[in-house]
Amino acid sequence: RIVYLNGEWLAEAGAKVSIFDRGFLFADAIYEVTGVVDGKLVDYAGHAARLQRSIAELGIACPLTAEQLLDVHREIVSRNALMEGLIYLQISRGAADRDFAFPKDAIPTLTLFTQAKSVLDNPKVATGMAVALLPDQRWKRRDIKTVQLLYPSMAKMQAMSQGADDAWLVEDGFVTEATSATAHIINRDGKLVTRGLSTAILHGITRASILEIAEAAGIPFEERAFTPDEAKDAAEAFITSATSFVLPVTAIDGQPVGDGRPGPLTLRLRELYIRDKM
Ligand code: PDD
Repeated sequence: RIVYLNGEWLAEAGAKVSIFDRGFLFADAIYEVTGVVDGKLVDYAGHAARLQRSIAELGIACPLTAEQLLDVHREIVSRNALMEGLIYLQISRGAADRDFAFPKDAIPTLTLFTQAKSVLDNPKVATGMAVALLPDQRWKRRDIKTVQLLYPSMAKMQAMSQGADDAWLVEDGFVTEATSATAHIINRDGKLVTRGLSTAILHGITRASILEIAEAAGIPFEERAFTPDEAKDAAEAFITSATSFVLPVTAIDGQPVGDGRPGPLTLRLRELYIRDKM
């Protein structure tokens, strides 16, 4: 792969970052993941806007203008002849002597790489995913897309050891989100229920698009937190993310959701998303 590091295009083995980089020492870094289908960026504007918000929250200056960022995204796709998969972007505060106080003069480290992956043709569309409910033990600023991903990683391993595909995290009796995706249900009245935006969850770009699509398609929705019991009792459940788009969840803690098969509204939302965005 050809990767991007602070203005340079390099073979991946040649891209080196300092061991003093604060992304490495403090997880003092944010990231974005943008899907690519047919060599085109999916929902790019949303990801670009969230990237600016994340770095603003941490007081990191963006090394490139909005136009340059878009150019770099397009160039990494063409340099790697990427047809389908994702672009990962990370901005850390940069390298500095190890100190809990932010350095004044560090130069942010901007990296991008691509990962080929089939996004449209996902076997989970047909089977659905199984999720396990686990406590949400992440920090409380989940609206900032930082690289502090150890707990989500541990929760995913725990869920997999229980035979599930992923975890849905629970805090104060309500589902927050999946380890790396937004959690949604469709209740027995056919209403889409998804948690409202706050510092408790990442403000999903795919989530925002799905709500616009639901609105346009006349699918009623409500933005509020839901409980694990409500999820288990729902007609349908699904996740959204940049790398999965919309995927059905057909089991929660070993209990089937609805009839245990991918739900019709879920599959319709996936189709509409693909139709609108690709
Ligand atoms: N994850 N919630 C969390 C905790 C996430 O990490 C993600 C995305 C989402 C969905 O957001 P979006 O629709 O903007 O992708 C929700 C990415 C894909 C990742 O970490 O790889």
